[in-house]
Amino acid sequence: MLKIDLRSDTVTHPTREMRKAMYEAELGDDVYGDDPTTNALQEEAAELLGKEAALLVASGTQGNLVSLLSWATRGDEVLVGDQSHIFLNEAGGASALGGLVLYPIQTNQDGFFSEDVISQSIKPRDYHKAPSKLLCLENTHNSTSGRVLIPNEIDSMVSVAKNHEMNVHMDGARLFNAVVYLGINPIEMLSTIDSVTFCLSKGLSCPIGSIVAGDKDFIDRANRWRKMLGSGMRQVGVIAAAGRVAIRTMIQRLEEDHVNAKKLAYGLANISGLTIDADRIQTNIVRFQVPTGKGGIITEQLYDSGIYVNKGVDDLRMVTHRSISNEDIDFTLLSMEKIMGLVIAGNDR
Ligand SMILES: Cc1ncc(COP(=O)(O)O)c(C=O)c1O
Repeated sequence: MLKIDLRSDTVTHPTREMRKAMYEAELGDDVYGDDPTTNALQEEAAELLGKEAALLVASGTQGNLVSLLSWATRGDEVLVGDQSHIFLNEAGGASALGGLVLYPIQTNQDGFFSEDVISQSIKPRDYHKAPSKLLCLENTHNSTSGRVLIPNEIDSMVSVAKNHEMNVHMDGARLFNAVVYLGINPIEMLSTIDSVTFCLSKGLSCPIGSIVAGDKDFIDRANRWRKMLGSGMRQVGVIAAAGRVAIRTMIQRLEEDHVNAKKLAYGLANISGLTIDADRIQTNIVRFQVPTGKGGIITEQLYDSGIYVNKGVDDLRMVTHRSISNEDIDFTLLSMEKIMGLVIAGNDR
């Protein structure tokens, strides 16, 4: 049966070239630091991002967690966006496992924070307060439909944090979607950022893995936390091999996903009953609203047509990726139009 899986870009499978590289990967024991394929990936990633060092971790969640734990300690405060993945969707790990205080700050509709919001959130040095140690940014910003933070916005947020001797971490799970959208070198985007995570397993199509990058001392601390979290991964070159192929071959093609997302968004905007501001779509995440209370039936009917989205909610998200073609977008729009016709006519069961 036809399957158009728009739930997330995490559903992508490794390419043939990745599978071949995984099969042939030269291996060692990464806990001893002698897995040559992992070492090569980490060096290439660090160079690509303009950072001293990089570390392969199991997931984006683990990358963010080891980063937060490496910058802040029990009782320290970390400023996170109130709509950020770290705050909403990482199981409270930094608080549960590290004793960090996550302080949610107001995010604007483009996924960033005003300088005033940041400075008002940073605590004065006072023993009543948890000391503010780290500011976290997210680029692209998932919950605002994959909006891109641009370098001057980043620099202004970073400068407020730096004025208060705080470090800045970027959750760049979809960093390269932002980089490709802006047409810039990632080094330019990250020059003032202390640490960054990006995912190999999303649009870049690897089966597993994320990269964390920063200075050498930070990566040493992150490595220790990764070990403590049980992810000293031994012959992990089988995974790193796919990552090397991804960095070499999968970044520029993200542009196709953005083109498909735009087409999807403008198509959805033409279907009555759906609410979407298609002009705001910049990368591969398309969010829109269906009539209140109709999310359950609409997502079920999409599933019946072979179109997979996260079920049951009125705020729907469709994510484009390497396995979604132009024809898949046409079929999705056609199906959505039919379903919405039934919903509006009151014939949706
Ligand atoms: C912005 C953002 N950060 C982090 C993550 C976590 O990545 P993972 O699912 O690999 O843990 C995600 C996952 O979708 C994400 O969207």
